[in-house]
Amino acid sequence: MINVGVLVSGRGTNLQAIIEAIEEGKIEGKIKIVISDNLDAYALKRAEQHNVETQYINHKEFKNREDYDKKIVETLKNKEVELVVLAGYMRILSSYFIKAYKNKIINIHPALLPSFPGLRAQKQAVEYGVKISGCTVHFVDEGMDSGPIILQSAVEVSEDDTEESLAERILKEEHQIYAQAIQLFSQGRLIIKGRKVFIKK
Ligand code: GRF
Repeated sequence: MINVGVLVSGRGTNLQAIIEAIEEGKIEGKIKIVISDNLDAYALKRAEQHNVETQYINHKEFKNREDYDKKIVETLKNKEVELVVLAGYMRILSSYFIKAYKNKIINIHPALLPSFPGLRAQKQAVEYGVKISGCTVHFVDEGMDSGPIILQSAVEVSEDDTEESLAERILKEEHQIYAQAIQLFSQGRLIIKGRKVFIKK
């Protein structure tokens, strides 16, 4: 059983998928807290509907990113969180945060990294004209979408895809592989060696 903390900023469909995977026994873990930097995030409502504790932390009350992250880390540690899951969290983590939870922070990105890091990855993929895109679960390091890759899932891009239609198909895959990756972490099966993640059988 692993204690999970989830950071969100928006609608929270990945959070929803994780909550459901836990309820169905597909993840051996418990969400101890959902933290949002956005009071209006629909993700907070989803958590509350499943009796998951939430906290809104307003970055405007802190003088810089590090002080804000110190508050978040303190909150996570108080809840004995062992794995930090970024699920549509729109803020860049300070190195303080990354060091405090070294190799214990994961993110999901809606492209096959290292292609199309950064914002609006699905739009980038459509505009570039790739035939295959997808999503990536990775550990978070100090770079932008650059940490060791845990799982990926590929999605075909059709000629008439728009950013929205591609995003919708990728999202279905996100919900699958994020839950799988959390379960692998929970089982202690993810071994990081340099850039690579090895999955113990
Ligand atoms: C997803 O597309 C995820 O890949 C990206 O942000 C989006 C979050 O969506 N990091 P949701 O809030 O989980 O619905």
